[in-house]
Amino acid sequence: MPMHIIPGTGSLGARVEGLDLSQPLSDETLAELIQALGRHGVLKYPKQKLTAAQLKAFSERFGELEVNVANAYQEPGMPEVMILSNIVENGKPLGLADAGQDWHTDMSYNRMIAFTNVLYGVQIPHRDGKPLGNTEFCNMHAAYEGLPEMWKQRLEGMTATHDFNKFWEMMRREKGSTRPPLTEAQRAAKPPVSHPVFMVHPITGKRVLYANPGYAIRINEMSQEESDDALAFLFAHQLKAEYRYANLWEVGDVLMWDNMGTIHNAVADYLPSEPRYIKRCQVAATRFFHADGTPRASNQALVSA
Ligand code: SIN
Repeated sequence: MPMHIIPGTGSLGARVEGLDLSQPLSDETLAELIQALGRHGVLKYPKQKLTAAQLKAFSERFGELEVNVANAYQEPGMPEVMILSNIVENGKPLGLADAGQDWHTDMSYNRMIAFTNVLYGVQIPHRDGKPLGNTEFCNMHAAYEGLPEMWKQRLEGMTATHDFNKFWEMMRREKGSTRPPLTEAQRAAKPPVSHPVFMVHPITGKRVLYANPGYAIRINEMSQEESDDALAFLFAHQLKAEYRYANLWEVGDVLMWDNMGTIHNAVADYLPSEPRYIKRCQVAATRFFHADGTPRASNQALVSA
């Protein structure tokens, strides 16, 4: 069966059928999927059966894989494949239990930001026949478009600082997370970085709102007070109902999303007795940006492809 991309009814999300992700991906299919990620933001490939090595091989076709700074809960011998799970066996957690459980964009705290996350659902909790642990998204193309003209003009050309420690400490302070504080060495490995508040998306060529509640701490060109007000406004604006989409998981789903054009939230509505087990690769946006964060000239070719 040839690959078939079926768009959802909302502003985000499409289902990709007819593609076995355990098999090598042709260059043509890869190019189609990259365009689809820009257009739909979130892609779901149902009914997959993957080893960790196959998940890694598929993910690294999209760019360089990140090894998470937590440097734990990794597939044995494969640090690029991280385990997200609430399962505890013989007193030992099998994965990071509370990954992504509030609104954020992965790796906005890096100089080299994230392109896509690739998650493989191995165990998905259900209650009363309904899946739990949805992954929710908001569309940052639409959030930019929906900004009042005054905000578009005021924030054009400005930058925001993003700090890995913001989300980490929020989880410890507000969500009862048992993750330990970051060590000095971990903090030094992830110093705060700046990115444009409005980024030109390298696939669509359109502006997106690139400031997320998980990591953005300050708009650099404003006073602290102005920045606090502006970020509070942006964080409320980007979560409007019309920008939202929720993925409902089934075992065997591979879920992939564009971190530049969306923000996401892992819904923590399941109990410790309701096991969830997901394997995740995080792909850096190396195909779109140089190491110093400047866009590659080849982005324009993708936009017009
Ligand atoms: C993540 O933020 O990458 C985790 C999403 C999820 O577990 O649903």
